[in-house]
Amino acid sequence: MPRAPFIPPTPSEEAYSADADQGEVFTSADPFELFEQWFALARAHEINDANAMALATADREAAPDVRMVLLKDFDPRGLSFYTSETSAKGRQIAGNHRAAALFHWKSIRRQVRFRGPVEKLPTLEADAYFAERARGARIAAWASKQSAPLADRAALDAAIAAMEKKFEGKDVPRPDHWIGYRLVPEEIEFWVNRPFRLHDRLLFTRSGKDGWNSTRLYP
Ligand SMILES: Cc1cc2nc3c(=O)[nH]c(=O)nc-3n(C[C@H](O)[C@H](O)[C@H](O)COP(=O)(O)O)c2cc1C
Repeated sequence: MPRAPFIPPTPSEEAYSADADQGEVFTSADPFELFEQWFALARAHEINDANAMALATADREAAPDVRMVLLKDFDPRGLSFYTSETSAKGRQIAGNHRAAALFHWKSIRRQVRFRGPVEKLPTLEADAYFAERARGARIAAWASKQSAPLADRAALDAAIAAMEKKFEGKDVPRPDHWIGYRLVPEEIEFWVNRPFRLHDRLLFTRSGKDGWNSTRLYP
């Protein structure tokens, strides 16, 4: 039987293999700067959507829920994402403003998790970001009642067609329900794979308005 050709691993595969020692990865004492460094590395290695994060919310009864969203902006104020205020997550946030977010970058075997309250972004910011989106995505935001039951695909196609007609020859403004949120982190934890499951963890907790304390955690 012919043997499969040997394909040597690329340097990055070796550097980030499960038994690789990635060396010193906590390269900043500022969690935002550290996130920026890790995120840049993830963007260079992930096959797509390095900015995808699992967003956990909970309803009024504290029952958790989770789904992916895309991180759109990140700065010392927090993590911004966009969605429908009337979606399940939007309703959950309205009833319980505490949330968590998680990035897992498989290509570099690292994760970063965030916990904190969520606030709405100013409408001007949402308007500006909405205006940058492709017309098709803007029409879709009008047509989709995100998280509501949908009879069949034809019903969605009909809703899209109706919105295309409504906005024919016109600009498509941001629908009121399509808004931005910011998760304001109170805790940020960085995790990196190390050999023998002896992973490194560094937890930052907010102290005062702009200060952070950091603690290492057992794996
Ligand atoms: C990689 C990825 C990125 C996504 N990004 C977003 C996003 O930025 N905003 C959004 O509303 N939904 C996004 N979704 C869809 C959500 O995961 C989810 O299906 C939708 O928001 C409805 O969630 P809900 O019913 O909990 O509100 C994304 C899904 C995936 C897999």
